[in-house]
Amino acid sequence: MSRVQFPDGFRIEPLRRDHPRKSFRSGQVEVDAWLTTKAFQNQEKRLSVTRVLVNEDTRLAGFYTLATGEVDFSDLPPEVIHKLPRRRLPVAILAWLGVDASFQGQGLGQRLLAQSLRDAYEAGRTFAFIAIILDCVNDQAKAFYQKYDFRELPGHANRLFLGAQQLEVLMEVRSSPEGET
Ligand SMILES: CC(C)(COP(=O)(O)OP(=O)(O)OC[C@H]1O[C@@H](n2cnc3c(N)ncnc32)[C@H](O)[C@@H]1OP(=O)(O)O)[C@@H](O)C(=O)NCCC(=O)NCCS
Repeated sequence: MSRVQFPDGFRIEPLRRDHPRKSFRSGQVEVDAWLTTKAFQNQEKRLSVTRVLVNEDTRLAGFYTLATGEVDFSDLPPEVIHKLPRRRLPVAILAWLGVDASFQGQGLGQRLLAQSLRDAYEAGRTFAFIAIILDCVNDQAKAFYQKYDFRELPGHANRLFLGAQQLEVLMEVRSSPEGET
């Protein structure tokens, strides 16, 4: 997963005030409400960062939102907390992700997920975190993320995580010629 390739004509941009977000419809009301009413304001307040996927006509095909957070040591599974201090621990949060219904089923969702993981991985080289966490809006969303190695946090049926070490493996740092510079 070195570089995320989107189909020709699509590009990723940081969310701007002038992006046509009001017409975005993923089919999930909470996801659409986030993008149309809160994402930009939260970005302005430095609470989260949203990046959008736009096509040649500047139509908004998809987006994801990343933020930082903390989880308690006791919420994490044994293989993740190995050797970690017993306190609240930093995590990256994949807060939201969605693809407009008219663009679904073309592989854009998985590419947006890959791009969000790459962003998180790159940020993690400067600001460390121990896992990426996300909350699923429903079972379909959960099934989508579980296809890509996210696992349930014990005791939190709708909260999934991907450990930082797994993220590193996904990003192929160990096999990349650049390695960890
Ligand atoms: C979930 C979502 C992002 C998937 O986007 P997409 O562009 O249609 O997904 P892709 O075309 O990249 O599909 C990637 C893979 O996931 C599978 N997939 C897609 N939607 C899925 C779903 N809802 N449940 C389970 N698997 C799903 C596809 O079958 C495909 O698998 P394959 O490669 O084995 O064929 C999109 O349906 C969406 O925006 N849903 C509403 C909002 C939402 O639930 N967001 C997630 C929570 S914030």
